Amino acid sequence: MAVQGRQLALVTGASSGIGLELARCCAESGFDLVIAADEPQIYDVASKLRAAGRQVEAVEADLATTEGVDQLVAATNGRAVDALLANAGRGLGDAFLDQKFDRIRRVIDTNVTGTLYLLHRVGRAMRESGSGRILITGSIAGFLPGTYQAVYNGTKALLDSFAFALRAELKDSGVTVTCLMPGATETDFFERADMLDTKVGTEKKQSPAEVARLGFEAMMKGEGDVVTGWNNKLRAAIAHLMPSGALAEMHRKQAGPGTAKPGQERGPSHPARR
Ligand SMILES: NC(=O)c1ccc[n+]([C@@H]2O[C@H](COP(=O)([O-])OP(=O)(O)OC[C@H]3O[C@@H](n4cnc5c(N)ncnc54)[C@H](OP(=O)(O)O)[C@@H]3O)[C@@H](O)[C@H]2O)c1
Repeated sequence: MAVQGRQLALVTGASSGIGLELARCCAESGFDLVIAADEPQIYDVASKLRAAGRQVEAVEADLATTEGVDQLVAATNGRAVDALLANAGRGLGDAFLDQKFDRIRRVIDTNVTGTLYLLHRVGRAMRESGSGRILITGSIAGFLPGTYQAVYNGTKALLDSFAFALRAELKDSGVTVTCLMPGATETDFFERADMLDTKVGTEKKQSPAEVARLGFEAMMKGEGDVVTGWNNKLRAAIAHLMPSGALAEMHRKQAGPGTAKPGQERGPSHPARR
């Protein structure tokens, strides 16, 4: 049963990385939570967040499917969602023609179809009630043609663009839309995307806690977007100036298989790698 006056945040991809830190930000700010991920680890995260005194519902669901998204929405038990943090996503390295198509489809279904379906369902209810905050985890990857990560960057280009369009459509509705645009962040993302032999996958990255804090603060202020950190702001500015062909070549040097410095390649350790 909801405690009167408490707001509810729904966070996807909350079992690790940026989403876990976003859920922590919400809990610290007094939100009750519905958190979701694809694996049972989400229940451990819920127990830890409950220890901080919040009401937390965990949902293990495949958000690449409409059934999984329906299951997540059902878990709110009709309670209004005050903040939706649509963060779940996955990457996929290697050359497009060398990737397996079922993995390509999974990236698109998770990052785009499932995310948009969730935004459609929760966004309608927010518009009707005249209030709500939406945070979408896009990426500065959306500004770059992603050589050796082509489909992933394409999904993020869609989300980056979509977030601004939805924000404009919801102007004066009481619902704000914020796009969180991180650069490379130290999470399980690169391992799951089979990118531990790449430069970007092995070099030092921003902390997920810092990225999440910046995203959460921007969402609470109702800002349109936040590119996390000065390095990423510079990269984003360069991406807007350089020709696409040059950006695609630059991306090859970051994400191409075998671009990791000799001795820095890492092996898989995460059980969820697939
Ligand atoms: N790391 C970066 O460099 C970076 C940079 C820019 C943007 N981003 C974006 O940040 C978001 C979070 O990624 P992360 O870096 O924090 O990676 P991560 O640690 O791998 O977290 C991904 C989260 O998404 C969940 N997820 C993935 N597919 C799912 C599905 N089909 N159904 C339900 N949950 C699913 C995962 O849950 P399970 O473990 O249960 O599958 C996990 O909780 C993603 O949208 C990513 O594109 C990351």
